[in-house]
Amino acid sequence: MPPPNPADTAHTAPHTLIIDTDPGADDVIALLFAMAAPERLDIRALTTVAGNVPLAKTSRNARLACEWAGRPDIPVYAGAQRPLKRTPIYAANIHGREGLTGVDVYEPAAPLAEGGAVEYLVRTLRAAPEKSVTLAMLGPQTNLALALEQAPDIVRGLRELVLMAGAHFNGGNITPVAEFNVFADPHAAEAVLASGVPITMLPLDVTHKILTSDERIARLRKLGNRAGAIVADILDAYAPQEMKHYDMPGGPVHDATVTAYLLQPSLFRGRRIHVEIDSREGMGFGQTVADWHGSLRRPANVNWIIDGDAQGFFDLLTEHIARLP
Ligand code: BDR
Ligand code: CA
Repeated sequence: MPPPNPADTAHTAPHTLIIDTDPGADDVIALLFAMAAPERLDIRALTTVAGNVPLAKTSRNARLACEWAGRPDIPVYAGAQRPLKRTPIYAANIHGREGLTGVDVYEPAAPLAEGGAVEYLVRTLRAAPEKSVTLAMLGPQTNLALALEQAPDIVRGLRELVLMAGAHFNGGNITPVAEFNVFADPHAAEAVLASGVPITMLPLDVTHKILTSDERIARLRKLGNRAGAIVADILDAYAPQEMKHYDMPGGPVHDATVTAYLLQPSLFRGRRIHVEIDSREGMGFGQTVADWHGSLRRPANVNWIIDGDAQGFFDLLTEHIARLP
């Protein structure tokens, strides 16, 4: 692995957190994981976006995650129904028609919060103390791009953005070069990159190194609680298709690496580099161009994570899921 990430020590303080998400099988695992760590992650709200499935389903699945974590008090605000400019795309082939593999979905008891996600982001970030709020982003970045367009001053309230996004050394998962969250709205990803807020990206380069195994899933199931069974059921259904497609020995849990990074950044290794998004029509559409070797001599704008401790990740995930109902 490359040398320790120098940014680590700056990231260990508890986070005041908003999670922007498009659940999504791995999103739900990331959300359960995060809601199991209230002493480190003070989750103020979830904001939802169309992505893996249309908005009504991602918003329902986010509320289900709150219910399953015993946190129906966390408000869920529905956000953008479609990307900024491109035609909407979904990933029901991976996440199922309802956006969740392996588990039954139903209408949760708690309704959506009043008002939209973009309005919530603008109001909350404007009122927040300077550099106080971390935004974890697990789907297409449309909501923040819209909020930045409406109110560029909201960057003041942001401490950092931690994104599951992009691919470089690994190659893409929706085209040969593009990762789904960026491909689904590259214009939004460009706006977010241009915001100047400190950004950490967890791309496929790292998520395809942190893979399930039968033993890792069995440990989650053996916890004996409902959340352990839900996570194991989701992974049992989700992992095999990824393993088959990429000929990998296990399945990735992409978005949950964001939660692990927030809780224990020392599990990960990366480098501050210059990254650009290709939003031009063509084969490169949605690609994250990551200048790992500094060939362009442009200023670093992303802490690009390239490697992580897979066993450390599953230990941390299992330990946290054990705390839930
Ligand atoms: C990302 O795309 C989605 O399908 C997953 O939820 C994850 O956020 C992986 O490319
Ligand atoms: Ca996602």
